[in-house]
Amino acid sequence: MRERAPLHRQELPDGRSFWSVTRYHDVCRVLGEHREFTSERGSLLHQLGTDDAASGLLLVATDPPRHTELRRPLNRMFSAAGLAATRERIRAAVRGILTPALDGGEWDLAECAAKLPMAVAAQVMDIPEEFWPDLVAWSAMAASPEDPAHAVPHGSPLLVAHHGLFDYFSREFDRRSGTPGDDAIRLLMTMRGGELSREEVVVNCYSVLLGANATTPHTVTGTLLALAERPWIYRRAAAEPAAIPGLVEEGLRWSSAASCFLRHAVRDVEIAGGLVPAGDPVAVWIGSANRDATVFRDPDSFDPTRGDNRHLAFGFGPHYCLGATMARITLRIFFEEFLGFFGEVEPAGEPVRLASNFVSGHTRVPLRTRVRRSLAWHTGERIEAPC
Ligand code: HEM
Repeated sequence: MRERAPLHRQELPDGRSFWSVTRYHDVCRVLGEHREFTSERGSLLHQLGTDDAASGLLLVATDPPRHTELRRPLNRMFSAAGLAATRERIRAAVRGILTPALDGGEWDLAECAAKLPMAVAAQVMDIPEEFWPDLVAWSAMAASPEDPAHAVPHGSPLLVAHHGLFDYFSREFDRRSGTPGDDAIRLLMTMRGGELSREEVVVNCYSVLLGANATTPHTVTGTLLALAERPWIYRRAAAEPAAIPGLVEEGLRWSSAASCFLRHAVRDVEIAGGLVPAGDPVAVWIGSANRDATVFRDPDSFDPTRGDNRHLAFGFGPHYCLGATMARITLRIFFEEFLGFFGEVEPAGEPVRLASNFVSGHTRVPLRTRVRRSLAWHTGERIEAPC
């Protein structure tokens, strides 16, 4: 499609239709120009044909200038300086998550990675550990309700997930009202003198948690699968910790975990050699843009040493991922620890892909790892394990 149909109209059997944009620079334009392409009618493909009920309330479904006002205080909290105090707690969380795998042998990386962002977001949102399993499960269901792994005995997985998440954050809103604290939930509650309604706080808490939980695990699994299939790159990365940031950026490009976002044309717009009529929905395919050979040399090779890796995994323009710094810190710490723990990693069976047109990832990734002969943790504790 990038070569032959860079603007492609797709009609669904039920009569709904949307345009697809697949080239890097066209994707940047759709995401970057809110005056041409609005987010206010929804930003997910599964919302096609139903305007977003949270339009103007939810960060991701609001255009500037209101979007800029909502986002400014959050930017500070999710900046490198705002997150500085959480680094060691993130490292402890990563170690806790990896410890069961130290028994050696075969284990499921997808199950392990699913827990990672929750342990990190919980530091910033001050969420007690007893709630993590439910919140992780509901986030996965909300992001990809169509996957068979997220089926529920009665009703729709999306409704079950929304009910669980909105109910949790509504109760937290009430519990935290009038009490002091510097977590992200209270920040939203007190933002601009308490200007946000209960509904606005709840939907934005939902969005932050979903943003973290739905994507980070799939970047971990996508990157590690690439490494497991390329042991020479794994060994090089393990020998050179300074190369980890490059590995993380290539893993973000390679896995493109958030694969598709939606916008609507505000007016007739000429793009990619065609015309999108006013009001029509446009889907941008991030995974495709990140494989555009006019921007990335040899795009189908996994190359952590690639210079100038201007991938779009975190999007582009006003809605550029709020959690990009948090995700980068988490992923860097995860790979520092993983490469330190395990001397070798290889696939131990067929990975199972997630069924989703929003998130690109896996629900099962069986791996075989060998623990390094001797591991010295920062705590001074030594773990002896067979190599
Ligand atoms: C590897 C991990 C991640 C990836 C690949 C990713 C990807 C993205 C992308 C592509 C967007 C743009 C959406 C759009 O243009 O409509 C976005 C927005 C967003 N992300 Fe992330 N994200 C990641 C991690 C996180 C984390 C850890 C958080 C939690 C803090 C988060 C919270 C958000 C929020 C709240 C938005 C909406 C921002 C806005 O509308 O201004 N994301 N993310």
